[in-house]
Amino acid sequence: MRERTQVAIIGAGPAGLLLGALLHKAGIDTVIVEQRTAAYVMGRIRAGVLEQTTVELLEQAGVAERLHREGLPHHSIELAFDGQLHRVNLQALTGKHVTVYGQTEVTHDLMDARAAAGLTTVYEAEKVSVHGFDSDAPSVRWRSDGVEHELRCDFVAGCDGYHGVCRASVPDGAIRTYEKVYPFGWLGVLAEVPPVGDELVYANHERGFALCSQRSRTRSRYYVQCGSDEKVENWSDAAFWAELRSRLPDEVTQRVTIGPSIEKSIAPLHSFVAEPLRFGRLFLAGDAAHIVPPTGAKGLNLAASDVGYLARGLAEFYRDKSAAGIDAYSDALPAPHLEGRALFMVADVADAQVS
Ligand code: FAD
Ligand code: PHB
Repeated sequence: MRERTQVAIIGAGPAGLLLGALLHKAGIDTVIVEQRTAAYVMGRIRAGVLEQTTVELLEQAGVAERLHREGLPHHSIELAFDGQLHRVNLQALTGKHVTVYGQTEVTHDLMDARAAAGLTTVYEAEKVSVHGFDSDAPSVRWRSDGVEHELRCDFVAGCDGYHGVCRASVPDGAIRTYEKVYPFGWLGVLAEVPPVGDELVYANHERGFALCSQRSRTRSRYYVQCGSDEKVENWSDAAFWAELRSRLPDEVTQRVTIGPSIEKSIAPLHSFVAEPLRFGRLFLAGDAAHIVPPTGAKGLNLAASDVGYLARGLAEFYRDKSAAGIDAYSDALPAPHLEGRALFMVADVADAQVS
């Protein structure tokens, strides 16, 4: 096992994998340490909508070839109120569009590229811990197959999600957190059926919110708002389809193709922001630093934006011997972090309207 690297990345979610790919392009050595199996990481059904900045970062990382072939550009969304559909033309309003391409596919592409480049990823690492990040000699320790490992490094990137070990290792007095748990969740279903149409439909209904999304022309992703204490086992496919159809305008309901679910889960709705994002030689990025409810389809995009800034800062550090970029990461990490906070507030407003 490797004993030293330049940047030790904790977590092989999209933030960790994309950071690894961007740093590799900049000639910086990384090792990723992940507690789960590769199959588990790949099997998580989550985000589906990529913003243009995310696509550009995936291009920079050299992993956008399949995304350009299979991703579906979307220029508008539809909002449903009182049974009526209202189209919002994102392209006309902002000059930008989003791309429907699942997080599973992004993860797949990043894992394949990492393996093809012969870069080290340790899966199934147990009892991962980070040490010495307040010094010039941080390290990461873990156990694999009953053997203890230690990896020395210049920097640790905490890309280990909301429940990860990195943020939890920061002394209490050094970090501020803001958090809100909403009294509802999203029940999501993935099904091998054609979507209701070309655009995503966000529906407001007295029974609760519903969303018609998609992963491809033959695979749909749907959500209905549910109680935060509901159990997914209590939702049969038939009950889900009936609830979804009851919340959509008639013209959309008629276009819902029903089929067996291939995944069904409940995502609790939760907002969280930590600051700062840098503690000596430890950086937090992605869900480790902030969580936004899935409503705005922002989580993966914020994670990508964070690691875009972090990769640029680290590249400057090694190439130009300048700490300006990494020094600015937390304080000046302006757009994504503030955007995260703004969404936190938007979600509060939405919550106030619902409850
Ligand atoms: P994660 O994906 O959580 O990855 C963290 C990794 O770290 C995991 O692999 C974990 O196993 C590993 N890890 C954790 N602890 C440790 C440890 N101690 N040691 C080693 N490894 C560890 N976002 C969007 O942008 N668009 C969407 O449309 C969208 N839809 C969503 C729909 C749902 C239902 C949900 C739940 C989320 C959605 N999101 C969306 C959010 C998006 O999925 C997340 O923001 C994204 O996964 C964050 O990536 P990450 O790499 O920071 O964290
Ligand atoms: C999804 O497809 O998972 C998705 C799409 C749009 C959102 C949230 C989630 O706003």
